[in-house]
Amino acid sequence: MADKDGLKVAKDYHTEIPFGNNSAFYVKGANNLDWGMKKHLANIFDPKSGNTVMFAFDHGYFMGSTAGLERLDLVIPKLMPSIDCLMGTRGALRTCVPPENRKAIALRVSSGSSMLNDDLSHEVVAVDVADAIRMNADCMAVQTFIGADGQLSSIDNLSQVINAGFKYSIPTLGVVAVGKEMARTSRFFKLATRIIAEMGVQLVKTYYFEDPDDPNGFEEVVAACPVPIVVAGGKKLPEKDALAMAYKSIQGGARGLDMGRNIFQSPHSVEMAQAIRRIVHEGYTDKQAYEFYQDAIHA
Ligand code: R5P
Repeated sequence: MADKDGLKVAKDYHTEIPFGNNSAFYVKGANNLDWGMKKHLANIFDPKSGNTVMFAFDHGYFMGSTAGLERLDLVIPKLMPSIDCLMGTRGALRTCVPPENRKAIALRVSSGSSMLNDDLSHEVVAVDVADAIRMNADCMAVQTFIGADGQLSSIDNLSQVINAGFKYSIPTLGVVAVGKEMARTSRFFKLATRIIAEMGVQLVKTYYFEDPDDPNGFEEVVAACPVPIVVAGGKKLPEKDALAMAYKSIQGGARGLDMGRNIFQSPHSVEMAQAIRRIVHEGYTDKQAYEFYQDAIHA
């Protein structure tokens, strides 16, 4: 039995100081969520800038070994220091991402189509929430096909994942898919992002767009969406143009980029990721970021 004599220390309850943890949570629309959800969102969105650089390498879930992602085991580790959140399939994450990494995880949980199909809009929920928990996922990503043949099933998939997410406090990332026959108009993005947000997701991934009929369309999409929007990169652009798109997205109110091909298909992917990071977290303009990129690749 330990001798308890002499263990008494003076206690100070600081009764004159109000409770210290009363501030509002910084992620849009998340103030009323519980601690577990907020913790996951804080893993994704940097508490200082409020923004995130997500690196999307989930393309293999329907595209197979996409150009630039042939060797996930080589591509991901070199980019990891420059990004905040890894977005991939459980197959890619388990096999090719070192578990000792400190990055947030966006786990792709829907799938069901391949590049061999004309219509990619039919998916299922392919990953059980129990596996998302085992993988410490910070959010579960579901493709949604508003206006496409698979709209109903994709909303069903999204709802199942959101329900499971609330049960275990894991956020859901609703991804706006744009079908071949869908025009990238302000009207479409306003409709799709708002439907997905109202289903109950905690973050939305969509595309940046410029609609000549609605010059403030992107800003209005952001304003009307009660959760943070992160912008997908889309097809590979020249680096200068991709940085301009990233800058306009952040200026328009997006809280981050979830970029794939414009990073991993760049001949200087690490420098490109670092340039994106400067726009997202450090207030660089696209011109400043491009200068940084040029200096970095010629150093
Ligand atoms: C979306 O469906 C894909 O799964 C990718 O996550 C997404 O398209 C982002 O990658 P990228 O910047 O190459 O468009």
